[in-house]
Amino acid sequence: MLQDIETILFDENALAKRIQELGKEISEDYAGEEVMLVGILKGASVFLSDLIRKISLPAEIDYMVVSSYGNSAETSGVVRILKDLEDNIEGKNIIIVEDIIDTGLTLEYLKNYLLSRKPKSLKICTLLDKPARRVKEITIDYKGFEVPDEFIIGYGIDYAEKYRNLPYIGVLKEEIYK
Ligand code: IMP
Ligand code: MG
Repeated sequence: MLQDIETILFDENALAKRIQELGKEISEDYAGEEVMLVGILKGASVFLSDLIRKISLPAEIDYMVVSSYGNSAETSGVVRILKDLEDNIEGKNIIIVEDIIDTGLTLEYLKNYLLSRKPKSLKICTLLDKPARRVKEITIDYKGFEVPDEFIIGYGIDYAEKYRNLPYIGVLKEEIYK
């Protein structure tokens, strides 16, 4: 897989350090409370697994599956819920955990959807923010890193289901997806 990578943006150490900081920030912000992390599968699963172990509060996990990209590198703008939450979130402190925010269409939809279920609070945590192609203005409460307008893979993030197991975040060579 290495020959498909253009550059490495964040290596294992950089990721671990930043995730530790995010966990600490969340733990301080919600001190005395409980949180529920809602991971967006599949991309956020690796990030969520590392993040939750850096949160020193009672923390629940749930996951949703939404479709936006399919197997192509371009967003469709259409969001479909393929797997919903298992439990009621009314009165809970919900933190949506996402791998990367690009156009913002997925998060905009999810945010409104979850707000209609009356959580106590709703915040957004994303490992990566790719602001260049943003269509919907999104308030990101916790952000790992900003990335350039390139195709990103690794650490849970795929291209056509590959590269999720890379331990770092990298840029995919254009010739692979063009
Ligand atoms: P948005 O709705 O355009 O913000 O897209 C969000 C979703 O698109 C993310 O959860 C990713 O699954 C996917 N995505 C956006 N940018 C990339 C990328 O550079 N590489 C891989 N997946 C991406
Ligand atoms: Mg995704």
